[in-house]
Amino acid sequence: MKLSPQSLKRIASRASTRWDRHYVPSKLASDPVYEAVATELHASALPVLDIGCGIGLLTHYLRELGYQVPMTGFDYDDRKIASARAMAAGMSDVSFSVGDARVDLPEHCGHVVILDILQFFTPDEQDVLLRAAAVRLAPQGKLIIRNCLADESWRFRTTTMGDWFAKATLWMKAGPVAYPTADQFRRVLGEAGLSVSIRPLWGGTPFNNHLIVAQSAKSEAAS
Ligand SMILES: C[S@@+](CC[C@H](N)C(=O)[O-])C[C@H]1O[C@@H](n2cnc3c(N)ncnc32)[C@H](O)[C@@H]1O
Repeated sequence: MKLSPQSLKRIASRASTRWDRHYVPSKLASDPVYEAVATELHASALPVLDIGCGIGLLTHYLRELGYQVPMTGFDYDDRKIASARAMAAGMSDVSFSVGDARVDLPEHCGHVVILDILQFFTPDEQDVLLRAAAVRLAPQGKLIIRNCLADESWRFRTTTMGDWFAKATLWMKAGPVAYPTADQFRRVLGEAGLSVSIRPLWGGTPFNNHLIVAQSAKSEAAS
């Protein structure tokens, strides 16, 4: 499920800025989240909605693995969406749109992916987004989330500092607002009728990242 050096090179060559040509392959090779999402999606043919898609790295990762599922990326940063569109030019069944996930989400029925954006939301906004994502799941669909969880660990404090650094360097438009907790995912997604699994996804990083996967209890039992 890891990308070959040739795949990484091919993706990097699509980036329009020198920064992205360096950033993209190192991010894809070092961050365990893309491989984790690919493993969760496995051979599913359902379309994927990527909320807070940034420059669309997940799309490229999945396409290089041969996943041809329709991909929709959604992000409120119009510069990132412009880069995402440029990098994906010529790819079929890929679209990117600008919008604020606190306000609305695209229509969708399939899998939903939310990687590293919930910390920009208030707890109430997080709950609303999780519910909106849950109703966009197909019966066999998965809601796949990667986020830092709020807890007492040194990893949590390190993640907070990293997110403020990203804001200070203008890589992120906003600083963190609130970090979700494991109990919050179990409560909100449980109320939506989903079963929830949560596991650490630290990779080689000092961050308190976790992978949260929610799906209908029926589809989990069948898989
Ligand atoms: C840490 S980046 C993650 C990018 C991407 N998910 C990835 O893993 O490569 C967080 C993304 O969330 C986006 N974002 C933050 N708040 C958002 C909102 N309210 N609506 C839509 N996108 C948002 C940011 O613009 C940024 O691209």
